[in-house]
Amino acid sequence: TLTQSFNMVLFGGTGDLVLRKLLPALYQCHRAGQLAAGGRIFCLGRRDYSQAQYLQQAEEKARQFVPSADWSDEVWASYASRLEYVKVDAEQAADYAGLKAVLDARAAEVTVYYLSTSPELFTGICQNLAAQDMNGPHTRVVLEKPLGHDLQSSNDINQAVGQYFQERQIYRIDHYLGKESVQNLMALRFGNALFDPLWRREWIRDVQITIAEEVGIEKRGGFYDHTGALRDMVQNHLLQLLCFVAMEPPHSLDSDAIRDEKLKVLRALVPYSPEEVSTRTVRGQYRAGASRGQPAVGYLQEEGVPADSRTETFVALRCEVANWRWAGVPFFLRTGKRMADRLAEIVINFRDVPHQIFPTSMGMSTPNKLVIRLQPDEHMKLYFLAKVPGDAMRLQQVSLDLDFGEQFAARRAEAYERLLLDAIRGNLALFVRQDELEQAWRWVEPIMTAWEQDGNPPKPYTAGTWGPAASSALLSRDGLAWHEEV
Ligand code: BG6
Repeated sequence: TLTQSFNMVLFGGTGDLVLRKLLPALYQCHRAGQLAAGGRIFCLGRRDYSQAQYLQQAEEKARQFVPSADWSDEVWASYASRLEYVKVDAEQAADYAGLKAVLDARAAEVTVYYLSTSPELFTGICQNLAAQDMNGPHTRVVLEKPLGHDLQSSNDINQAVGQYFQERQIYRIDHYLGKESVQNLMALRFGNALFDPLWRREWIRDVQITIAEEVGIEKRGGFYDHTGALRDMVQNHLLQLLCFVAMEPPHSLDSDAIRDEKLKVLRALVPYSPEEVSTRTVRGQYRAGASRGQPAVGYLQEEGVPADSRTETFVALRCEVANWRWAGVPFFLRTGKRMADRLAEIVINFRDVPHQIFPTSMGMSTPNKLVIRLQPDEHMKLYFLAKVPGDAMRLQQVSLDLDFGEQFAARRAEAYERLLLDAIRGNLALFVRQDELEQAWRWVEPIMTAWEQDGNPPKPYTAGTWGPAASSALLSRDGLAWHEEV
């Protein structure tokens, strides 16, 4: 469906995110006819680019990041006529009058300010917009992560932005929520009667959520070393996935109905005491190894990383959601850079049968398991036992495997396409509400504090592996193991 007429104002217009993700995503929306004819995209930057120079750069990058099958020079040319480079120094209040004049000349139903800048600039930008009366009811502001460094700084940003924009105008991005596969979790859980009766402590032994990456920190040493995997991936993406797995059915698809249920999960997460941090969390850091058959340097040798850095590139956690549905069920979360594979998946391990009638001589009794693979391909696999044909009674594990890519031939939209369209349409369901963000930081904070205070370095693991040995030990204490594809 077509959006209404809009002005999309991209702060940080010469930055990586805009060139690699946002402009290619908007190109795809344009190509699919999802953008209103009058919709305009303003790319802001401090540099003295001419319009032609900027467009040339934007096109170069887009050609790299749009799949070649989706590229068309003609489509690009018509898309490019929506783009306008505007020289604005986001920190200079005086530049905003000029920006206002540019936008006023292009009246639109909605104006979306997308702050793809470092979070230190968020407050100043909002203040400068407000000073020019550019924050009226038809405007929205999109905030990119990282939204703060800890609870305090995140609250400071929220409070400051909240002075100029109301909560319903604020769109906090967690790009995982824009992924088809994450939205499909809602469809699976709440569009089917089959799962819910089993989706609880009586039937589920443990839940495992993994987001593993093969890449290292790429060229982001300076940023990453101040961030680490806990802030970069756990506080946001992994906790959001956990919410979608653990939440109660919302009463409707209304944005706040969904966000209320996610918030309840975050509130039910049991906080760690300092002692529990040492037994229930594992942090690792990669050493030299290999990735896809190529040698890979260790984290400490990466550009921009101090030789004695203690920043974690891997995290594994054992946590619990204390409510009637989940009490006593361990949730294991894990993420890391330079791991053996690129993989995002949710594994639901069911309990064993209440009474075993098949002796072990008839085959191993393996409990049921549901694996929801989100990345790189999207599929769902249900493991159960079946009889091997023949005279003897022998059991063997088999699986039902649904490949969503085969099931639906349609192109899978990139997360940012969906999220940008939603920001224009005014749909907040896939954006993080202030109280959710705050609660996620509140839960993560004791881990950060305990790690800072304990003085131990992260556990080393070889690049191209599944992380430090302590990660397996975290599960073996419960008699469990990370799921491995068989
Ligand atoms: C980003 C992190 O939020 O998510 C990156 O900052 C990470 O470090 C990325 O690589 C992973 O996203 P995806 O969509 O590639 O799984």
